[in-house]
Amino acid sequence: MCGIIGVTGGAQVTELLLAGLARLEYRGYDSAGVVLEDGERLWRARAATGTRSLEDLAKLVEDAPARPEAGVGHTRWATHGRPTDANAHPHLDCTGRVAVVHNGIVENCRELAAALADGGHTLVSDTDTEVIAHLVEDELGAGAELAGAVRAVVRRLRGSFAVGIVRAEEPGTIVAARRVSPLVVALGDGPEREGLLASDIPAILGRTRTFWTLADDQVVTLRPGSVEVTDVDGVSVAPRSLHVDWDLEAAEKGGFDDFMSKEMHEQPQAVRDTLLGRTLADGTLAVDELRLDPAVLDQVDKVFIVACGSSFHAGLVAKHALERWLHIPVEIDIASEFRYRDPVLDQRTLVVGVSQSGETVDTLQAMRHASSEGAPVLVISNVVDSSMAREADGVLYTRAGPEIGVAATKTHLAQIAALELLGLALAQQRGSLSPDQLADLLAQLGRTPELIDDVLGRDEAVAAVARRFTDVRDFFFLGRHVGYPVAMEGALKLKEIAYVRAEAYPAGELKHGPIALVEPGTVVVGVATRNRLWEKMLSNVAEVRSRGATVVLVADDGDGETAAEADHVLWVPPAHELLSPLVDVVPLQQFAYHLARAHHLDVDRPRNLAKTVTVE
Ligand code: F6R
Repeated sequence: MCGIIGVTGGAQVTELLLAGLARLEYRGYDSAGVVLEDGERLWRARAATGTRSLEDLAKLVEDAPARPEAGVGHTRWATHGRPTDANAHPHLDCTGRVAVVHNGIVENCRELAAALADGGHTLVSDTDTEVIAHLVEDELGAGAELAGAVRAVVRRLRGSFAVGIVRAEEPGTIVAARRVSPLVVALGDGPEREGLLASDIPAILGRTRTFWTLADDQVVTLRPGSVEVTDVDGVSVAPRSLHVDWDLEAAEKGGFDDFMSKEMHEQPQAVRDTLLGRTLADGTLAVDELRLDPAVLDQVDKVFIVACGSSFHAGLVAKHALERWLHIPVEIDIASEFRYRDPVLDQRTLVVGVSQSGETVDTLQAMRHASSEGAPVLVISNVVDSSMAREADGVLYTRAGPEIGVAATKTHLAQIAALELLGLALAQQRGSLSPDQLADLLAQLGRTPELIDDVLGRDEAVAAVARRFTDVRDFFFLGRHVGYPVAMEGALKLKEIAYVRAEAYPAGELKHGPIALVEPGTVVVGVATRNRLWEKMLSNVAEVRSRGATVVLVADDGDGETAAEADHVLWVPPAHELLSPLVDVVPLQQFAYHLARAHHLDVDRPRNLAKTVTVE
């Protein structure tokens, strides 16, 4: 998740930029850069040295102009293009007189870049951001001043963005704009009243506690002591002001108590960003780096998914969707087991590794094994240029942004979305779904962020249910069909952050043994939204109820029949059955979260666990 910052005015532009970037560090980054404007020209420094980038940038800045009037800075978390110097922000136009920092995704960057190249521009990076600098250049060439040029460009961009732009010809001015991606602006409280902008409050919290936020497509011109906001047509508007009394740590968590809660709330955006711009006008999928011949994909007659933990659960959801949409077998294996048996693989088996970190050694080794057997390998990862991304034949990045809480939440949802998108793209290529079916499924997938948002708004209701079970040390989780991996994920969350035993079963399996454990007082959490096995699921629930279990069910809004089988209901808005895990897993994350909080546990750093597992 990139972070942007801008400072205009005062004697400490460079220092404030660097200090602000350091405060955006917690968002994660792989490269960093600044542009300083000194009244005559723009001076740029960039470093793409991973978590050392800020240190290295500080060294480069020792050669910067002594007294810049304004500057913009950026910490980059790669989404388009590898983390290299050339891809690090700020990006310049052809003249080197306009510089842009950007957080977000320009969905139509490919078509804009093609048009710019036809118009004689030379683009030198692989980023979506660079097009913005060149588009601004064109508008300035037609006589606009910077704010007018940015308004014109905003109209042409699709996707999400928060941008900060400086121009050598307009010293002391920063123009910024946003759509969806976060942006705050402010004036320093000191006598210099420097103009400030940032992705996030912590970056500039030391200078003031009063901020303004912009609505979508508003454009702000910042100068020392002055903040002018207009809508995209140039009509002045009053920005919304915000006063915060958080300390720095609370500000990094965006006002949430912990990163896990913040990241759960980022889930709608994570899914939205993962879907954004991926389906091209001809309906095909824009894979970030597909080093596979499409003819290879045409021949695929089996898919094999390998992953661990929450990523494995995302893969299990995808198995249902891909088999339905592609009519070919989809196998899934725990990555740590895969290469120690003899999986049957050949060049017609597409092996899909799923890993938020892209570094999990079990999954990496499983992928290597598949490659050595001649199978084409694709990875779904959240980290650009991770080991898996470098080694696989193709990469589809989830764009959840860095996840700091150890328990996977937003990366898990983004993985499900990416896998389903992959399934739809393959279905299109192979003609296994009709154009109408594809369009309908894509539209329904596109609506899932709203449904997730809706569930997040019901957090207090889930917390109230969770608090009733603070003394329980043993839970059963049940589900059927896609509800089963959801139940597994709910149980895993409970184990890892609340340290409570939780076993997940496909509900039909109960009668083959586990039901012997059910007695009065046993707590059973079931996923009972209306998938194709819903009726059978309710019968299984009736079996445990009749043995005295206390039952908590995830159910579709208004489903009285399901509610009649439950002691407590976690309501969710209904979704297409194959997409429903994106929605149904959210109350189970919340349930685990609130139980862990009730036990006063550190949800962000559960014991014995690491965010990236690089040992076997
Ligand atoms: C659970 C969790 C782990 C990971 C697993 C795989 O909340 O985070 O189960 O899902 O360790 O990690 P990645 O996806 O990085 O390969």
